[in-house]
Formats: sequence, C-alpha cells, structure tokens
Amino acid sequence: MSKVTVVGAGAVGATCANVMACREVASEVVLIDIKEGLSEGKMLDMYQCSTLMDFDTKMVGVTNDYKKTANSDVVVITSGIPRKPGMTREELIGTNANIMKGVIENAVKYSPRAIFIVVANPMDTLTYLALKASGLPKNRIIGMGGALDSARFKCYLAKATGANINNIDGMVIGGHGDTTMIPLLSKASVNGVPVTHFASKKRLEEAVANTMVGGATLTKLIGTSAWYAPGAAVSMMVESILHDQKKIVPCSCYLEGEYGQSDLCIGVPAVIGRKGIEKIIKLDLTKEEAAKFEASAAAVHKTNQVLHDIKAL
Ligand code: 2OP
Repeated sequence: MSKVTVVGAGAVGATCANVMACREVASEVVLIDIKEGLSEGKMLDMYQCSTLMDFDTKMVGVTNDYKKTANSDVVVITSGIPRKPGMTREELIGTNANIMKGVIENAVKYSPRAIFIVVANPMDTLTYLALKASGLPKNRIIGMGGALDSARFKCYLAKATGANINNIDGMVIGGHGDTTMIPLLSKASVNGVPVTHFASKKRLEEAVANTMVGGATLTKLIGTSAWYAPGAAVSMMVESILHDQKKIVPCSCYLEGEYGQSDLCIGVPAVIGRKGIEKIIKLDLTKEEAAKFEASAAAVHKTNQVLHDIKAL
C-alpha cells in the first residue's frame, strides 16, 4: 500500500492528483486545501472518472485536516499563489515562503518519514526553505522544476528538428527561473544522434530561448501559471519514488560541493528512487555551461537571502 498527499487543490495540485490516480501511481491519493470543500469536490469529481478510465485509486479530499494525510509516503507541496502575466517566479517569495513554513510543519508532523516534492515558486528557494525548516535529511526534499523544463525543452527541440518528441533526449539544469535555467543543447539528441544533425544553430538556439520562458509564455496565454505539464512532471517523479524506478531526473537538490556549489537547492540530474534523491549525477559541462551554472547558482543564492530578510529563516 502507498499513500501520496498533495497539498494545494489548485490547478497544479489537482492535475497532479488526477494524473497519479489515472496511472495508479499510489494506492491512495489525498488532496488537501484550506478552501472549504475544494479538495472534497475535486477528488469526488476525479473519483467519478474511475469506471470511465478503469482505475481504483482511493481518492480522499480534505479541508485543513492534516490528520487525514498521516503516514504518507510522499507529500507534494503545490500550495502558494501562482504568478500572473509579466511576473517572475521570484516575486512570489513573500507570500509563498510563509505558506510553505506552515505547510511543511503540519505535513512533517503527520508524515515524518515522507519524501517531499516542492512545486510552489520560487521553487529552488522554497525547496531550500522546506529543507531548513523541516530539518529532514537532504535526500528527502526534492524540488520539481527541471523535469518540467526538460519536457518543454524536448517539445521545442521536436519542433526545431521535426523529430518525434519521444525520440528526443534533452535536459535542463540550474535554477527554475526565466533567466537562470540552462537547457543543455550540447547533450541534446534524437535517439543518440546530436540534434545539430537535424536543425540549424539558429533554430536550436530558438528552442533554448523558448524553453527558458516556457512558463512565462503559457502564463501570458492563459493568464495564470500552467498546470498540465507541471502536474504530469510531479506524477512522474512520485512514480519513480514509489516504484523505485531510479530514473535520472533533473530536479532541485541540496548541494554540498557538487558542481562547485554549496548550501543551496538547484537543478541537477539525480537518481530518484524509494529513498528520494539517491545519487547526484556529475555532468561534464562545457566551459559556457559551467559559467552559466555558476551564474544561476548566484541568482538562487540571492533569492535565498530574501528568506533571511523576511525572517522566514
Ligand atoms: C511553470 O514553469 C509553474 O513554475 C511552473 O509553469
């Protein structure tokens, strides 16, 4: 038996719960929110898909009552305000840092052995806050950003190369920010064949640029943050944990010297299995990529400093 709690019944949280239910990632999915009835209603609606989509995941919606989340194997934290068109993820820190502190305290109280996946933005900084505020070991606090950004990178590379998106290999590391993420063009391929064989440098650089603002592009179109791909990205990570799949996933991990960085959470490739972050993979970066990673880390450190300025840490 396995149990996953999703905190926050907004679009991302509900989508994540729905994808996990349909894929039967866990035996039980609990969705919790502060808004009266929101989780109960969304989970009942999803449960009514069971016979139509042939799944029998136990679906529980609760308002505020963390007791119903007890003994979760994985807790996904999506709660927080999403950005509006024109906003950066970093601008959400004031409100979302305070929400994170309350959520992590309650969630850890009832599921002290869980692995936590942070989605709320600014994600790298809130992952760092969750780690410091909870005191949990670093392997059990993972930030979801790189999985989503890499999925977008593959989408834009497929458009640039004309290749089947499921034949594309592409990874994004660094901060989950419009100017801090690093799509690794040098390592991107179509079934092992470098993407440079299939598209011009200009088209490939356009794919990189589009990836970096992939979230902002959707926010401009929709009027709020995206939810389908974020929800699916989280579900993929939860599946790798609960089914011990040991997938290599770019995700926000606490570094202690890896990639020349320490005391921050930032996107790097990691083996994700039943213990959470099981191993951080060291990539051979080009000089340009290494310099971008250093700049990205400096930007994340700067946002982390705001946690001290607002006394969240
Ligand atoms: C995104 O990039 C919500 O940060 C998430 O869409």
